[in-house]
Amino acid sequence: MQIISTIAKLRERLGAERAVAFVPTMGNLHEGHLQLMRQAREHGSCVVASIFVNPLQFGPNEDFDQYPRTLNEDCAKLEGLADVVFAPSVNEMYPVAQTVYIELPEIASELCGAARPGHFRGMATVVLKLLNIVAPKVALFGKKDYQQLHIIRQMIAQLNLQVDIIGCETVRANDGLALSSRNQYLTDAERTDAPFLYQTLQALKQTLLQGARNFEQLEQQAIETLTGRGWQVDYVAIRNRSDLMPASSEHLVILTAARLGKTRLLDNIELDCVNQQ
Ligand code: PAJ
Repeated sequence: MQIISTIAKLRERLGAERAVAFVPTMGNLHEGHLQLMRQAREHGSCVVASIFVNPLQFGPNEDFDQYPRTLNEDCAKLEGLADVVFAPSVNEMYPVAQTVYIELPEIASELCGAARPGHFRGMATVVLKLLNIVAPKVALFGKKDYQQLHIIRQMIAQLNLQVDIIGCETVRANDGLALSSRNQYLTDAERTDAPFLYQTLQALKQTLLQGARNFEQLEQQAIETLTGRGWQVDYVAIRNRSDLMPASSEHLVILTAARLGKTRLLDNIELDCVNQQ
């Protein structure tokens, strides 16, 4: 496995590769990331991982400085899974102040975009830069960040990028908590409460599968349940999988973002309401 930190060297290394499968990350790798790497192997002859904590996608009062940077441990975990690790500096990715951005559809200002203004613009801009640098055949992203995956798919399709996007299932701890680099911010007591977010989504999914269709009321009830247990809820939203607009189809996803203490957690669950009235 080669660790490369400059764009020029990476391009030289990948120049002759025909089928690159690419997994962009911000590092501090866990089993969720590693699962993406294993799936990448099925889609390409050369697996490339990037590790870059992207300042453009963090707000001024967010955790950019605090975000865990564990390059040595990450590279040890990637040994045998990736062929190349691209770990650029901020200066390598942004040698001049970035003044060109991707302008995103309205959905990027909703849900997580409402709580984190500019987050998706910064995310999409770095993903486009990384795709231009790596030029992969396939890129893999987790459904854990469902809105992110949706926005990336829109960008790829509408800007005619030649890359196939694969969305991978969320990897969870045994108690159901979706794995995330931010889980380590949780105190022991918060970590014990954290699976309640997924349990709330599962309960809401069951209610919908039993035929309930009063979406707004159900969202509100779930918010109240979480709030009652000490969570600060950004949103619980029942949406179409196709466009992430309020539910009007059979193929739905329930998305949530909520804070436990200082830690903001995301989760979502898909469901098919085949007998929708
Ligand atoms: P990061 O949070 O490091 O996640 C990298 C990739 O791993 C994303 O596609 C994310 O959805 C996926 N992932 C994270 N936790 C997962 C889990 N529990 N199960 C499955 N997949 C999981 O997302 C980012 O970085 C950044 O926004 C990035 C796309 C790299 C752009 O900076």
